[in-house]
Order: sequence, then C-alpha cells, then structure tokens
Amino acid sequence: MTQATHLLAIDQGTTSTRAIVFNGQARPVATAQAEFAQHYPQPGWVEHDPEDIWRDVLGTAREALAKAGLSARQVAAIGITNQRETAVIWDRATGEPIHRAIVWQDRRTADVCQALKSDGAEPLVGARTGLLIDPYFSGTKVAWMLDHVPGARARAERGELAFGTIDSFLLWRFTGGRVHATDVTNAGRTMLYDIHRQCWDEDLCRLLRVPLQILPQVHDNAHEFGTTAPGLFDAPIPIAGMAGDQQAALFGQACFGAGEAKSTYGTGCFMLLNTGETAFTSHNRLLTTPAYRLGGRMTYALEGSIFVAGAAVKWLRDGIGVITHARDTDDMATQVPDSHGVYMVPAFAGLGAPHWDPDARGAIFGLTLGSTQAHLARAALEAVGYQTLDLARTMEADGARYPAALRVDGGMAANDWLCQFLADLLETTVERPAHLETTALGAAFFAGLATGVWSGLDDLAATWTCSRRFVPVMDAAKRQGLVAGWHDAVSRTLSRPA
Ligand code: G3P
Repeated sequence: MTQATHLLAIDQGTTSTRAIVFNGQARPVATAQAEFAQHYPQPGWVEHDPEDIWRDVLGTAREALAKAGLSARQVAAIGITNQRETAVIWDRATGEPIHRAIVWQDRRTADVCQALKSDGAEPLVGARTGLLIDPYFSGTKVAWMLDHVPGARARAERGELAFGTIDSFLLWRFTGGRVHATDVTNAGRTMLYDIHRQCWDEDLCRLLRVPLQILPQVHDNAHEFGTTAPGLFDAPIPIAGMAGDQQAALFGQACFGAGEAKSTYGTGCFMLLNTGETAFTSHNRLLTTPAYRLGGRMTYALEGSIFVAGAAVKWLRDGIGVITHARDTDDMATQVPDSHGVYMVPAFAGLGAPHWDPDARGAIFGLTLGSTQAHLARAALEAVGYQTLDLARTMEADGARYPAALRVDGGMAANDWLCQFLADLLETTVERPAHLETTALGAAFFAGLATGVWSGLDDLAATWTCSRRFVPVMDAAKRQGLVAGWHDAVSRTLSRPA
C-alpha cells in the first residue's frame, strides 16, 4: 500500500491562492500559485468571485501535487487556511453563491456599525467575541447580503442558504456539499461567536440580524472535517486542518507558548501574541481572538490588525504605476538614504488597530519638488514598520509582555531592509524563519496533527529553524524623530480627532 507521508496546504489569501505540498519533515516540496481578480464596485467596497477562488484552489492543488509527483494516495490530509472574515453565502441545494464574496477590507457596512455603536452594543460585542464593532468582521456583511439580494432573507430563514468564511465555502466544495463547517479561529471573526462559551451567540445573531440556521458547525483546528468528493483527485483526501491565515501563521511559526509573537506581512499585517489559555482583554482596542483549539482546549491570542502592508506596494504598482514589479520597492527603498520626509499613511481601507477608523482614507504627507518614486516606495515600506511598532507598543500598554523577539513571515519578510527597520523601530530582535510560508505550514501542521503525521507540539516546534536574526542598531534620536513624524501624519489622517 502507498504510504501517505505528505500534507497538502491550501493558503487562500486576499489576492492570491497558493497550494504547497509539505513532506513529513515540514519542508515544502512543491508550490503552485494563482492571482485572482479583485472587484471594487464602489469606493470602499471590495468583492471576490467565489467561483474564481474555487477554480484557483482546485487548480493550484492539482498543480502542486503534479509538480511534487505525488498521487492523492500519498497525501495524508489537506489543511486549509484562508483570508479571514470574507463572507460568502451560497445555496445549499446548488452550491451556487448568491452574491460575490464581500471581502474583509470592504467598508460598506460602516454606517450599520456606527449605528450599533451609537446604540451602545460595543461592550456586549466585546465581552462575547473579543472584537470591536467594525465593518472588517463578517457579521454585518452577511446581513447586508441577506438584505440586498432579492429574496435572500426569506430563503435563509427557510434554511435554504449557508454562510461561511472562505474555509467553510472551500470545505463545502471539496466535500461535494456534504459538510458545512468551520473552525474556532474563523468563527471567532464573525462577531457572532462567543469565544468564551465557544458557541454561536443567539443575542448577537439577533442584534446583527443573522439567522442561526445559516451558520456552520464549529470544530477544533485539527479535526477530520470531511473527505474530498470523488473525481476531484485520483483518490479521496481527508481535510483535517482549518484555520484563519493569521492564526495558521502563528501556529506555523511554532509560537506555542504564552508571550510568543509573530507578525505576518501579506496584504495586511497582523501581529498575534499567544496569551495561552487566558483570553486577555485589551483596553487599547486590540482584539482577543482564538489562536487555536486542540483536543477541545482553547489557546487565545491578542491581535493587532493592520489592513494595508503589501497592498500599498501593490497599489504603487497597479494603482499609480510608480513601480513595475513589487520586488522593485526593495531596491528603490535602499537607493535613497531616507524617505526625504515623505510619510504614507496607507488607510486605503480605513485604519485598523489601534485606531479603528473605517472612514479614514490613505494620505501622503511631506511631498516636495525633491520627492521621487524611490521616496514613495520607501515611505510605503516604512509605514509597515511604523504600524508594527504601534501594535507592539499598544500590546505593551495593555500589560502584555513586550515581545523579546518577533518572528516575521509573509512575502515582505524576505526584504532584509524591512526586517532591519523593524528591529530598529521595535528595539527588539526580529527572527526570520528558514521558510517564509508559515501560513501554509500552520495549516499543514493542523492537518498533520489530526492524521498522526506529527504527534504533538514538540514535534512541530523541532521543525522550526531561524534563517536570520536582525538586531536593533539605530540610534535613539533618529528613531524618535522618525516615529514622531509618523504619529503626526497619522493624526492628520484620522477622520475624527484622536
Ligand atoms: O483578516 C484578514 C487577513 O486574514 C488577510 O490576510 O494574508 O490576505 O493579508 P492576508
């Protein structure tokens, strides 16, 4: 009999989908990737076509297996990780989405959120979900679709529709419509899930006007969710791991102990600090979120969410054509000694932590006739560093231990200059792992734990290797000057005074 020794991880992100095959030593052996279309029907609105996503997931999964020269029989399990909060509603009978997916960056429900806040709902939402009221989370997006797609609310109430974040939608498609489920990390981002009692919250469903019957079942992250439907691969593969991408990255970085933190630089930047079995309450507008649940035991994290990191570089390329390739920013940033006083506040989708200002919009300050493309590129990268610093300092202000070391990952973490800038600004060691695809690795870890490829967290931690450590070298006066300029720029970008 062929032995199932490999894991297939699907990382369904905001702008691209990756499938990576890992071997039993947690090393990537084959990768396939596809970028897909972004839809911006109105300012502040962002949508994805779920059919594009499914096409790319299946396509990249098959391609990665072919590149690895593996049959599905040699794959112990699939692990799925995904852009979080993005909401899909589909017809249970046909599997067809009733609307394009409303993406986490979408701000269309800002007014609804403002009304909920004015009605005094935020303390209840915070106490039960660990979240703030913001259009970022799935709940108000679900209600929007039910209200705006003709007949949808009545169909939902009759039990004909299913809601899910992208993990859940993919699971449904992989299993041929047999399984409607999600995991605690994705459920925890809906504004409908009580992260303490660990169940859907009827009060919040009523408040947000989301019928309970459209919600998926919620499981641990390492769990046998289902098996792929006949015909998708040359043999059925169990789907045994699911997690939101930021939690998967925390897991893939082997941040298993309370006090360990990671920061991932993808479309956005998300810093998560493991707080163990304690759901740490922030007084500075950070989020409390499930990090992972294994064997029914929940581990929590404190999260700082920044909506734009790599997306600013993508905008320089696709939005205004200042650069041809995203990687050009690395060279451009080092061509100039500094940003020449230019600051970019990338509030393209409002500002996330710690400001939570959905109405803020991006701004560039300090332009002079001497400003060049290189200064803009540098300012875009520097903004990533400043925002990370703001998160780390906010965690510290909340009483969490300032990270003694920060593990970084995601595409931008390949940039040496950025890692050094982070170490300088944060005055902490920045550790870059040998493999930057830690999000996918985290999904593979969950799937491998559920299927016995790995026996426990010690096994997983032993696979983590650091490729480079960056230690702070910048002098204090310079750092303080740069940071003061950033805070001035942010204060001028907020839609209302801080
Ligand atoms: O919460 C949104 C986040 O999950 C998106 O991640 O990797 O697409 O920036 P990413």
